[in-house]
Amino acid sequence: MAASIANQVDLFVPGRLCLFGEHSDWAGLHRVMNADVPSGQALVTGIDQGIYATAKESSRFILHNTSPELAEGWVDLDSEMSLERLKEIAESSGYFSYVAGVALYMNEHYNIGGLEITITKMDLPQKSGLSSSAAICVLIARAFNQIYGLNLNTIGEMRVAYYGERKTSSRCGRLDQACAFGKSPVLMTFDGEEIGVSRLIVKESLYWVVANLNASKDTIRILSDLNHCYPFPQNEVERNVHDALGADNQKIVAEAIRLIREGDAETLGQLLTRAQQVFDEKVAPASPDELSSPALHRILNDPKVGALSFGGKGVGSQGDGSVQFLARSKEDQRKLVDYLNENGLEAYAFTIPEKHRVRKAVIPVAGFGTRLYPMTRVIKKEFLPVFDSDGTVKPLILKLFEELIDSGIEEICLIVGSKDEITQYKKAFFDPVSDEHRSKLPLEFLDMENRIQAIGRRLVYKVQEHKLGFGHAVYQSREFCGDDPVLLMLGDTLYRSETKKPCAAQLIERYEEAGKPMIAIQEIPAARSGSFGVLAGSWVDDARKLMKAERFVEKPSPAVAQNELSMPIEGGGRAVYGVLGQYILTPEIFHELGQLIRNEKTQHGEFQLTDAYAAAIENPGLYCAVLDGRMFDLGNVQAYKESFTVFE
Ligand code: UTP
Repeated sequence: MAASIANQVDLFVPGRLCLFGEHSDWAGLHRVMNADVPSGQALVTGIDQGIYATAKESSRFILHNTSPELAEGWVDLDSEMSLERLKEIAESSGYFSYVAGVALYMNEHYNIGGLEITITKMDLPQKSGLSSSAAICVLIARAFNQIYGLNLNTIGEMRVAYYGERKTSSRCGRLDQACAFGKSPVLMTFDGEEIGVSRLIVKESLYWVVANLNASKDTIRILSDLNHCYPFPQNEVERNVHDALGADNQKIVAEAIRLIREGDAETLGQLLTRAQQVFDEKVAPASPDELSSPALHRILNDPKVGALSFGGKGVGSQGDGSVQFLARSKEDQRKLVDYLNENGLEAYAFTIPEKHRVRKAVIPVAGFGTRLYPMTRVIKKEFLPVFDSDGTVKPLILKLFEELIDSGIEEICLIVGSKDEITQYKKAFFDPVSDEHRSKLPLEFLDMENRIQAIGRRLVYKVQEHKLGFGHAVYQSREFCGDDPVLLMLGDTLYRSETKKPCAAQLIERYEEAGKPMIAIQEIPAARSGSFGVLAGSWVDDARKLMKAERFVEKPSPAVAQNELSMPIEGGGRAVYGVLGQYILTPEIFHELGQLIRNEKTQHGEFQLTDAYAAAIENPGLYCAVLDGRMFDLGNVQAYKESFTVFE
């Protein structure tokens, strides 16, 4: 199908800050020449400040500005979309060289027209180690991608931004484009030419401060001095640089990931200080003129700053450019910004919000339920009565809501089939029963009545106007999910945990360890593989409870399931693993769903969620968790019958 052209898109790309692992991006590249160089690793985060713009199709390449921040002396760029003209601007080292570099790269590699871009807001300080140049390059790459429907994923956009910027005199590194991941902190790995990216789990919000030292540094000189130590170190000084950017850095980064996940801001701040010490001891001697950094050390050693922060270090290429601190609290963050500004620095606050828990869930309930016809003419299958272990009988969906609340979920998005269904759900879970009925309820049911209404207040609704499949239904929740990891549960399935922890809570716990899109799986009889999505890959742990997926096949035949997709199990033998009906959705999955829908890639006329997860196997990686529990697909008559006995 031809690439679809969007009319106008709104864009935001933040600046980025390297928290740990600066310089390890280009160092890791030297693995191409010297396999003893360890891979580079860096923790990078988008910040609150960034560039906002709108973009639309044009035959030319035009850049306007309406943001007050850039208004002074602004003259629009208006160029032909020709290779010669864009090359000239890119190589001019003028203000528009970066944007022209990206347009040039696009023009060389894709069959596209031009763009008319308007920058509407720019609150990102320039030239302060926050990669404003990479942010504008990612923004231009994304504008081309979205307007011309090029189907690039985030790593693809980063690549275009990188090669576009390299067409100018700038020598940006590979970690600068991490801003393409928005405000989420990520781990980037640099192994030769290969880069990998995975999101971090943040247990508690982290209150960061970054400040421009208003001193001077020569980044090109720093890079040139340090690059002299590669690929093969010749002396003690150079060996130290290899250690610091290699093994030492890997250790520090691994510890930082753990501390961020555990929410230990105090030790994380101390780790910033330790990372600076390693840098001073082992890297600075290779570029002593630029990296002795007196202004940086003055502020790092300021006792007032020490009282407000847990620790700090230099930024980007280091030297007397910018400094970053981890403040002790939100209040101290504000005080630190004020203090630094009063002392002639330009300071900014940004917060890395907690992303530790999966707080939201999505349940699609818009399907008709053909298999339960004619019952579904009258009752939605999500309202089927089920027995609970406390002796009550309740609608299936209420049991699911309870499982979610017990697993720490705070907001639930229901994907319904029509506005009428919203009314139906509100009546069932939000409106109180009449006073007359209420007066008849025994005490324990009154209690339940209050709990049901509390659940009702946590529900939000999205309508799936056209029934275009499960994947399409899930896609309707993209705005509700935003950048967060979200639990997805089937609306017609009952889950029975074999431990005290509900299945949803088990899955959330496993996600918090892996930080990647995830699917709950269960062992299934190979003979029933035709009713399941089947996953195969390699076990990550000895207990064989976590699998890194390599294949995801929808409803394979029993022969294919047994011969090609079965996995080794403990005590010998093999087993087939099918989807248990609970998933962790991440922004990457929504990206893939968007691509499927834009490209009209259906199976039997429906957009399949399986296709989106299968695409995630390559990048960013897909994990599967074997839970201690079973599922009953109540949309199927046999399983509905069976559930009666199991829940007795
Ligand atoms: P099913 O695959 O069971 O489809 O949906 P269905 O249409 O509900 O039922 P059958 O197969 O015709 O009997 C799995 C989940 O996805 C929802 C369903 O409500 C169910 O929770 N779904 C499915 C939607 O919300 N929209 C769709 O277009 C399809």
